[in-house]
Amino acid sequence: MVRKRTVKDILAMKHNDAGISMLTAYDASMARLLDEGGVDILLIGDSLGMVVLGYDSTVPVTMDEMLHHSRAVSRGTKQALVVGDMPFGSYQVSEQEAVTNGVRFLKEAGCDAVKLEGGQEMCEVVRALTLAGVPVMGHLGLTPQTAGQLGGFKVQGRDLVSARRLVADARALEEAGVFALVLECVPGKLARLVTGSVAVPTIGIGAGADCDGQVLVTNDLLGLFDKFTPAFVKQYLNLAPQIRAAVAAFRNEVADGVFPAAEHTFGSKVDFASIMQNDEDEGINE
Ligand code: KIV
Repeated sequence: MVRKRTVKDILAMKHNDAGISMLTAYDASMARLLDEGGVDILLIGDSLGMVVLGYDSTVPVTMDEMLHHSRAVSRGTKQALVVGDMPFGSYQVSEQEAVTNGVRFLKEAGCDAVKLEGGQEMCEVVRALTLAGVPVMGHLGLTPQTAGQLGGFKVQGRDLVSARRLVADARALEEAGVFALVLECVPGKLARLVTGSVAVPTIGIGAGADCDGQVLVTNDLLGLFDKFTPAFVKQYLNLAPQIRAAVAAFRNEVADGVFPAAEHTFGSKVDFASIMQNDEDEGINE
């Protein structure tokens, strides 16, 4: 009997020392495979914009796009905790709007929680969401929605001032009620310090081995997105060249009349040639 992961299970994993595994998913069939692989959390990341929808950044991603893909992931998931990423603009305007949008992820898309980016400036939003019954995962370090303000896609917290701010942000978010914290692109030693400073689990991406869990973009892990590969990614499969080769083989076999072969064709005992004969008798072809 498969038991659905809960926010409480994820919190407990910090103390069990069981590494938390989180992967992104954007559709039902991939979600099913990842879920069957036993991953703890599936994140419908707004990375959707770049790896699936073809945008240049995560900024243009809309609530409608996130809900559409989140519904599909929820349908494909039996076991993992499903977390929907709140897109840029859906939680910054007002706490009320943030709650309305957060609730939509749970009510309309079957998510178990939401994720949002930002530190102390987001604490009131986190409080409002958790009070409304929407569990929140925080996201610190490199926050792609505001990467421009951070000087681009760069490692964060490299100097003492920004490192101190990151620790303060993590503590403030914990106090505001997040149940977990993504740490993206921060030095390993700083991630270790943050992990030891908060009671909620940290989930690292480009943040070293001392976080309580790890997250990767599935398309990077599988080698499906080969426009660029960040240095922290471990590619467990390299599917892009295999897909191109399979497509070329299909195209060639269609061109050469090799596909479909007899085994791909439905048989029948009916003599269909007689249809043409009858048509001729009834004058249909005249
Ligand atoms: O959007 C995303 O995929 C993310 C992960 C990289 C954490 O935020």
